[in-house]
Amino acid sequence: MEKSKATLKIKRFNPEKDNAPHWESYQIEVEPTDRILDGLNYVKWYQDGTLSFRRSCAHGICGSDAMRIDGRNRLACKILFKDLGEVITVEPIAGLPVIKDLIVDMEPFMEHYRAVLPYLINDDPPPPDERYQSPADRAKFDDTTKCILCACCTTSCPSFWAKEEYIGPAAIVQAHRFIFDSRDHGAAERLDILSDSDGVWRCRTIFNCTDACPRSIEVTRAISEVKREMLFRKM
Ligand code: SF4
Ligand code: F3S
Ligand code: FES
Repeated sequence: MEKSKATLKIKRFNPEKDNAPHWESYQIEVEPTDRILDGLNYVKWYQDGTLSFRRSCAHGICGSDAMRIDGRNRLACKILFKDLGEVITVEPIAGLPVIKDLIVDMEPFMEHYRAVLPYLINDDPPPPDERYQSPADRAKFDDTTKCILCACCTTSCPSFWAKEEYIGPAAIVQAHRFIFDSRDHGAAERLDILSDSDGVWRCRTIFNCTDACPRSIEVTRAISEVKREMLFRKM
């Protein structure tokens, strides 16, 4: 396949040396089907070994290479050069503290995730074989099982940018996955947590989260279902 020129314009920041972030450009040659992650690897391996970014699976599964590419949150391993222009901007996802270059501190995000009790709660003694669930009941939360905790949604949400205490769409997606699981008994507790002033009602239905999700989860819809469930249970 024929190679073409591309420029990666990357926002760099090294807290040990820099007072503020700055842009640096790198010229590379790429095949159209190369992914932005391939380009970043090329820069790191052959041009500037100090460039820092997270990546692992390279197949859209681990969620570690979320970044802002041409102004939109995406996974670098899922975006091809042929789908973007010749000059491509790459920045860290917004709203979380930058540790270095494209690496942000995920701890505040994970704190919100842990807050919604993202695990099955059921103290009933387990049946001899398994806890059965009908296909119809399983379908109620199928979409939200696909979340890989990449943070593309939460860090594209203006409500989160405005107030970092907002629990954020990713945590609500994770709560949804258990609230609508017929085998789980922790829905009331989770809904109580999400009814806080920094919980679901801080969502203004802006839809950036849904647009940003690399797993095509209907994030805003999941949030609306949680809001409805909260109101329904209060009636
Ligand atoms: Fe990432 Fe989508 Fe999960 Fe949000 S809902 S963390 S965008 S996979
Ligand atoms: Fe934010 Fe998504 Fe709601 S972008 S405001 S969480 S619909
Ligand atoms: Fe794992 Fe991109 S490197 S999702």
